Amino acid sequence: MGKLLIFLLCNSLFEGWMVMSVPYDHTASIECLSSPMNSLYKGGIIQNSEFNSGLMGWLVPVGVQAGVSSSPSGNKYASAKSKGPPSRSVYQKLQMQTNTHYALSAWLQVSSGTAEVKAMFQAPNGAYIIGGTTVAKSGCWSMLKGGMTAYSSGQAEFFFEADGVVDILVDSVSLQPFSFAEWKNHSRLSADKARKSTVKVLARGPDGVPLAKANVRIELLRPGFPLGNAMTKEILDIPAYEKWFTSRFTVASFENEMKWYYTEWKRDHEDYTVPDAMLRLAQKHNIKVRGHNVFWDTNNTQMGWVNPLSPDQLRAAMQKRLNSVVTRYAGKVIAWDVMNENLHGEFYETRLGTPNVSAQIYQQVAQIDRTATLFMNEFSTLEWAGDMTSMSSKYVRKMEEIRSYPGNAGLKLAVGLESHFSTPNIPYVRATLDMLAQLKLPIWLTEVDVSPKTGPYQVEYLEDVLREGYGHPNVEGIVMWAAWHKHGCYVMCLTDKDFNNLPAGNLVDKLIAEWKTHPEAATTDANGVAELDLVHGDYSFTVTHPSLHSPTVHTLTVDASSSALEHALDIQD
Ligand SMILES: *[C@@H]1O[C@H](CO)[C@@H](O)[C@H](O)[C@H]1NC(C)=O
Ligand SMILES: *[C@@H]1O[C@H](CO)[C@@H](O)[C@H](O)[C@H]1NC(C)=O
Ligand SMILES: *[C@@H]1O[C@H](CO)[C@@H](O)[C@H](O)[C@H]1NC(C)=O
Repeated sequence: MGKLLIFLLCNSLFEGWMVMSVPYDHTASIECLSSPMNSLYKGGIIQNSEFNSGLMGWLVPVGVQAGVSSSPSGNKYASAKSKGPPSRSVYQKLQMQTNTHYALSAWLQVSSGTAEVKAMFQAPNGAYIIGGTTVAKSGCWSMLKGGMTAYSSGQAEFFFEADGVVDILVDSVSLQPFSFAEWKNHSRLSADKARKSTVKVLARGPDGVPLAKANVRIELLRPGFPLGNAMTKEILDIPAYEKWFTSRFTVASFENEMKWYYTEWKRDHEDYTVPDAMLRLAQKHNIKVRGHNVFWDTNNTQMGWVNPLSPDQLRAAMQKRLNSVVTRYAGKVIAWDVMNENLHGEFYETRLGTPNVSAQIYQQVAQIDRTATLFMNEFSTLEWAGDMTSMSSKYVRKMEEIRSYPGNAGLKLAVGLESHFSTPNIPYVRATLDMLAQLKLPIWLTEVDVSPKTGPYQVEYLEDVLREGYGHPNVEGIVMWAAWHKHGCYVMCLTDKDFNNLPAGNLVDKLIAEWKTHPEAATTDANGVAELDLVHGDYSFTVTHPSLHSPTVHTLTVDASSSALEHALDIQD
C-alpha cells in the first residue's frame, strides 16, 4: 500500500513535471516532401491531428466539400474543395487560455500549381490573426510553421485559407500551448546552450607542475555575441554620442552613410569622407562594421540620376558603384548587405531585364571581398505573417536562387532579418527563425526596432524580440536600428538628445549586463584545474598562487569549441 502510494505520488509528480516542461521543438522543413512529417507535440491541443480518425474533431465550412483521403503509402490527410475564393480548409474550434503562446505547425498541399496559404486564427476576442504562411505546391507537402498569442480565454477557431480557387490538403497539424514562463525558460535554456561553454583551465607553475588552490580572477574583455546598433554621422562631432555608443556595442551598421545615394548623390562625384571617418572611429574602438549596403532594390530608394538610365548605362553605373564601395571597404567590413530588400524590390531586375541580377551581384562582391559575409536583408519576414512578399518560404526560394547560381556555391551567404516591429507575434518569430535555420546559414537580426506607436509596451516588446534573437540557436548577431539624430531617431530612440538612456536604453543595458554575466573568480582543484561555465567571449584570467611572485595574466577566447579542450594557463618565471 505504502509503495503503491509512493508510486502514484511519483507518477503524478512526474506527469505534473511533464506538463510543466514540454520542450520547445525547433523542427522545421523547407523541403516539399512526398509524405509529411508527423505532427509536432503529437498535435498538441489539435484533435485527430493526422486525420487517422477521419474528420473526427474537424469541421467543414459552409459551401466547402471535404473528406479524408489516403496516399498510396497509406498516409491519411484532409482535403477541402471550395466553390469560390478564398478557398478554405477544414477547421477546428479550440479553447484558448489567456496569456499563452501557441506554437503552430502543419503540412499543406494544393490540388494544382502553387498557392500562398495562410493559417488563420479567430482569437477568443474575435480578432482574426494570421499565424503563418507558406507557398503550398501540388504533388508534395510543404510545412507551415507559425503561431499566435492569446490575450484572453475562450473559444477560438483555426483554419487555412488561400486566395485562389484551389483544393487545400492538410495533414500533421499541431498547436502547442506554452505559458509565458515556459516560453521564457526555453529561450533561456537555449541561450545558455548556444552562448556558453564549460571550460576547463589548468594552472601550471614555471616547472610545469599543476598549481592546486590557485586563485583565478576572470574578466570578460569582449562578449562573443555581436550586439550592435545603427551609427549616424553625428557621432563624428558629438563626444557624448561616441562615448555612449562605443561603451556598449561591438558592431555597427551605418544608417545611410555607405549607401549609394550617400556616396554618389551627384553622378560621378563620389565622396567617402563621412563613411571613411565613421569607419576609422569604429576601428579605433574595435567595433566591427556591417557594410550597409551595396545596392538597394526598391523603386523608391533610387537616385534621380539613376532612374532614367538605359539598361546599358545602368549596368555600367552599377559596375562602377560595386567596384568602388566594395574595393574601398574590402577586409574592413565584416559583412555586406548586398542587394538590400530584394524580396520587396526588383528595381534592378526590372530595369536590366535580368531576373538573376541579384545572384550575379553577390558573386561580384565576393570576387572583390573574400572575407565578408554576404547578407540578404529584408523586412517583414519576422515582423508580420501577413506580408506575403517576404514570407519565409519566399526568402528561402530567393536565397536558394542566389546560392545555386553558377559559381556561387562557395559564397559566405547569410540571412539578414531587419526586424522593424510593432507588436511582435513571438511564436511566429521563433517559428520563422526555425524555418530559415534550415538554410544552414548564419542568421542575424540586422535592424531591430519597435515602433513607439506600441506606447507603454515598447520596452517589453523590444525585450521579447531581443531575447528571441539571443535565445535562438541559429541567430549569430543582433544589430538595432536606434539611429540617432538631433531631431529624433529613425523610429526608436535609446537615449534622449543628451545621450541619457530612455527606458529602451536601460533595457538594452540590462540585457548587455545579463549577457556578460560570468563567474568572476575560481579556485583550482588538487590537479590545478578549474571548471568554468563561461559565456562566449574574450577573457583574461589572472592567476595568483602563494608560490608565484606576482599575479600572471592570460587571455583566452571562449567559443563553442572551447569545451572540448583543457586550456593550460602556463606560468613562466
Ligand atoms: C522554469 O525553469 C525553472 C528552473 O530552471 C523551473 O524551476 C520552473 O519551474 C520553470 N518554469 C516553467 C513554467 O517551466
Ligand atoms: C517598380 O517599378 C516598376 C516599373 O518601373 C514596376 O513594374 C514595379 O511594379 C514597381 N515595383 C514596386 C514594388 O512597386
Ligand atoms: C540569367 O538571366 C538571363 C536572362 O536575363 C539568362 O539569359 C541567363 O541564362 C540567366 N543565367 C543563369 C545562369 O540562369
